[in-house]
Amino acid sequence: MADGGTGASLFVIFGGTGDLARRKILPALHQLHLQGATGGDSVVLGVARDREMNDAGYRALAREADGGADATRSEVAAWAEHAIHYESIGAGAPDDYVRLRARIEQIETDYGLAGNRAFYVALPPDAFPGTITGLGEVGLGRSEGWTRIVIEKPFGRDLASARALNDLLHRYFSEEQVYRIDHYLGKETVQNLLVFRFANAMFESLWNRDHIEAVQITVAEELGVERRAGYYERAGALRDIVQNHLTQLMTLVAMEVPSAIAADPIRAEKIKALRAVAPIRSENVVFGQYVGGVVDGEAVPAYHDEPGVAAASTTETFVAVKLEIENWRWQGVPFYLRTGKRLARRLTEIEVKFRRAPVWLFRQAGCEDEIHRNTLLLTLQPDEGFSLLFEIKAPGQPFHLRRQPLRFNYAEAFAQIPDAYQTLLRDLFEGDQTLFVHADEVEAAWSLFAPLLDAPRDPRPYAAGSWGPAEAEVLEA
Ligand code: BG6
Repeated sequence: MADGGTGASLFVIFGGTGDLARRKILPALHQLHLQGATGGDSVVLGVARDREMNDAGYRALAREADGGADATRSEVAAWAEHAIHYESIGAGAPDDYVRLRARIEQIETDYGLAGNRAFYVALPPDAFPGTITGLGEVGLGRSEGWTRIVIEKPFGRDLASARALNDLLHRYFSEEQVYRIDHYLGKETVQNLLVFRFANAMFESLWNRDHIEAVQITVAEELGVERRAGYYERAGALRDIVQNHLTQLMTLVAMEVPSAIAADPIRAEKIKALRAVAPIRSENVVFGQYVGGVVDGEAVPAYHDEPGVAAASTTETFVAVKLEIENWRWQGVPFYLRTGKRLARRLTEIEVKFRRAPVWLFRQAGCEDEIHRNTLLLTLQPDEGFSLLFEIKAPGQPFHLRRQPLRFNYAEAFAQIPDAYQTLLRDLFEGDQTLFVHADEVEAAWSLFAPLLDAPRDPRPYAAGSWGPAEAEVLEA
């Protein structure tokens, strides 16, 4: 059976001792286990190179990885004792995969599992091909139950490498078995975009060029590159955030109404929206790189001076790009995507600016300067929710207008918002690919940015703690 089922399974984590496994995957599995959302009594197998590690050591690591409340700790510990195992993959030679396969089959026999398997490849991208081939060559691409493979980002570093990775995956796995992660799609507020648009007829009827003047999508980070220069120097903001997270948000805003809220129709509409984006003109892109400064009274280094960064690096830490979507819905409506590290504050937001009133009746009342547009702000982080900005009459005289928000805040309305990884892993157990990226989608996103990827960079400097280079403002003029 290729897919489609739930049921108890074996969850294999490649990179089992790594940062992502500790910070995100294991805590998400704990939570899903506590909620009974793993499709049955699921078992975990951590896989890494470390030959010294064993079941007991890995269970200790898994217990530590749990960030949950004390009340749940003993339950998690009991589960870890019972259901978490470790296997070394050594150097990843063919024999190592034969050994891994034998261990998987042994665990399945011990636990009476039916052969449902999830392989989570939480490894650096240069280890993806070897792992996929290793699994495929020993026949782990198929089983008696369902087999699913999860691939972390970045999925390739350009169109050619993404295609090669898709071809390799498809040699051993069908597309229905492949779950490409973009963790933004697991964020509750990102999913809410679908509800916002398609459950509220009021907005959907305004969602087009007749009523919308511009859309701006921002992923601003306060942090710098941290300790990730090794990866970031080769990636830069375009590959790290624009090609994936920002493009995903853009397609969810721009896509047509799908025929159903299900993986295939939604992914088909997202791909259509992506393919409708006009080739990007070089004058519509601004690259930036942060220089040092003082943020909140603390000196922060320039990107150049971060550990592991080349002194003459031209890697961009900021991108602003204007996209034009050539279809009936969006012709003439600019979509501005922008992202940067070391910006003024952490903020992920979609701003939909509606057109101004066609005739400004309040001019006679002296309200010349107050021609605002209704604006919808969908905030994804840190304060999840939305505001709709309206003009109102400020009380008293002289007559003047004020812009006031109608607000909805998730945290005020709901006690807890699940972590993105929890949402995505729950869907993985259920075999629902809606929030995962299709092969064609990832390729279309790389094609869109292809002309910019290796173009020479002369990033504009911007001060740490600012909103990016001044040139980016001009883009919007
Ligand atoms: C990751 C990027 O995909 O997303 C990081 O590699 C970035 O550079 C992170 O910091 C941002 O994620 P979030 O969920 O904190 O907005």
